[in-house]
Amino acid sequence: MRVDIISIFPEYFAPLDVSLIGKARHKGLLDIRLHQLRDWTHDVHRTVDDTPYGGGPGMVMKPEPWSEAIDAVAGSGGPPPRLIVPTPSGRPFTQEVALEYAKEPWLLFAPARYEGIDARVMAEYESRLRVDEVSIGDYVLAGGEAAVLVIVEAVARLLPGVLGNAGSVTDDSFAPGAMAGLLEGPVYTKPPVWRGHQVPPILLSGNHGAIARWRRDEALRRTLAKRPELVARLGPEGLDKRDREV
Ligand code: ADE
Repeated sequence: MRVDIISIFPEYFAPLDVSLIGKARHKGLLDIRLHQLRDWTHDVHRTVDDTPYGGGPGMVMKPEPWSEAIDAVAGSGGPPPRLIVPTPSGRPFTQEVALEYAKEPWLLFAPARYEGIDARVMAEYESRLRVDEVSIGDYVLAGGEAAVLVIVEAVARLLPGVLGNAGSVTDDSFAPGAMAGLLEGPVYTKPPVWRGHQVPPILLSGNHGAIARWRRDEALRRTLAKRPELVARLGPEGLDKRDREV
């Protein structure tokens, strides 16, 4: 997958050299290219923002540097990329959206600072590219860069060959599969007793059927306690007879 990121803080993306994503890049599974938005300005101050029409606090990102940058980057390959613009007013980013993005060959991120990008930029590209405004949660960040890190990490780990154990993707909270729509339950490793706390004996039983059932029960209990709306969303078809006893 190719990923381009246009930002006034390309250095913000140093974590993409580390760990899972760093390895994926090294293996050639992920081609991440960073671009400085100010390279597409033409004044000595390399200005990317201006005061908002209509008044109000803060600054708005100017359309010209963004359009020149997006034109240059989006036009530098074959079929155009999907353009992703993080904003608190976008559609919620979920595991489902991550799975959708993981199928794309090319993503282009345009994280904004200040009060956002002049709205005409979205209007312009909506007629030419597939454009997604996405929010990573109901809170306001200082800029879209942290949201890009979140989205890239959630998508990259879904790419074939990125995770050592493909099973860990299918058991994820929110992933389709046996635990679809439920939060993952607790996990344990050695030693069997630590500071007086025991590992649940069933996990040491070797009975794989019973362990699978126990895991689903725990997932259900945790989801009911922390995110009851997720259980409600499963509906009657999402629950078997035993689930209803939990
Ligand atoms: N930019 C600022 N806040 C954001 C959020 N919650 N999600 C995505 N981008 C943002």
